[in-house]
Amino acid sequence: MGARKKTTRKKKPAKTRLTARTADKHILYEGAVQSPEFCLGFAARSFRRLRGRPLLSIREDFCGTAAIACEWVRRRPDRVAYGVDLDQATLDWCRANHVPHLKEAADRLHLIHGDVLTAKTPRVDAVLALNFSYYIWRTREDMRRYFRAARRHLKPDGLLVLDIFGGPESMTTCQEPRRILHAITPAGDPVEPYTYIWDQARYNHIDHEMLCHIHFKFRDGTQMKKAFTYGWRLWTPPELTELLEEAGFKETAVYLEGWDDETNDTDSIFRRRTFYNDMDAWIGYIVAVK
Ligand SMILES: C[S@@+](CC[C@H](N)C(=O)[O-])C[C@H]1O[C@@H](n2cnc3c(N)ncnc32)[C@H](O)[C@@H]1O
Repeated sequence: MGARKKTTRKKKPAKTRLTARTADKHILYEGAVQSPEFCLGFAARSFRRLRGRPLLSIREDFCGTAAIACEWVRRRPDRVAYGVDLDQATLDWCRANHVPHLKEAADRLHLIHGDVLTAKTPRVDAVLALNFSYYIWRTREDMRRYFRAARRHLKPDGLLVLDIFGGPESMTTCQEPRRILHAITPAGDPVEPYTYIWDQARYNHIDHEMLCHIHFKFRDGTQMKKAFTYGWRLWTPPELTELLEEAGFKETAVYLEGWDDETNDTDSIFRRRTFYNDMDAWIGYIVAVK
């Protein structure tokens, strides 16, 4: 009789065990907050519709771990991305955690340690400033200066893509916990479920200044408090579209999701809108045409 055959099953990779002491805050952030395929899909569709050609080159301002820039170059060999961030440690995290998985696509990713106002890159089809990072500017003058800088880095038919949020709920103090069940590491390994908490700790109705934190909570009861903190001004669509036009953009449009009464939830379809009401909290995009 030959060797005894045994039924076996492919081993599932073990979920990364999480505690506040050992968890990697960038993996938790990416799993909870970012959806690179979604925002890149929106940018690529907008570019093709408005410019009649494919989007090829992007600059991700305030790139952090540059998950979006990495995803852009990973998908197709004719794409290039520049990521700009002030924080060397976060860029190093990208180099250590994302870049090795890009293989030859890594040659088309350029990470720049610098200020978005002054960092020089070749002109691109689209500049993306996402997850509201540009809300750091507190005055109209500073915001206009940033929009001018972004415009300078665009090709003549380029687009600036920004995300925005608003609604009466964004003008309050509150904590919003959300369970994150299906995060993965940059290597593709599943991450044990955890809780992401968006904390609007302070809001000032006079100048729209807000202080927000991100906390994470784990199954073992430990918490990573203030993993990230943001001091922002809450800007409104008319303020931003006016400033974009003052900075020289020819045209701007606001894209917001629809509401599905049957599921009592948003429909995840961002359409160009000039009227929007009765929403307690909303997120959207502004697209500005050079
Ligand atoms: C909210 S995080 C990045 C988020 C990332 N864009 C995303 O989509 O999740 C903001 C980042 O902006 C960077 N930052 C802040 N001010 C900057 C500046 N003037 N120039 C470049 N990067 C800046 C910070 O170092 C931080 O990594």
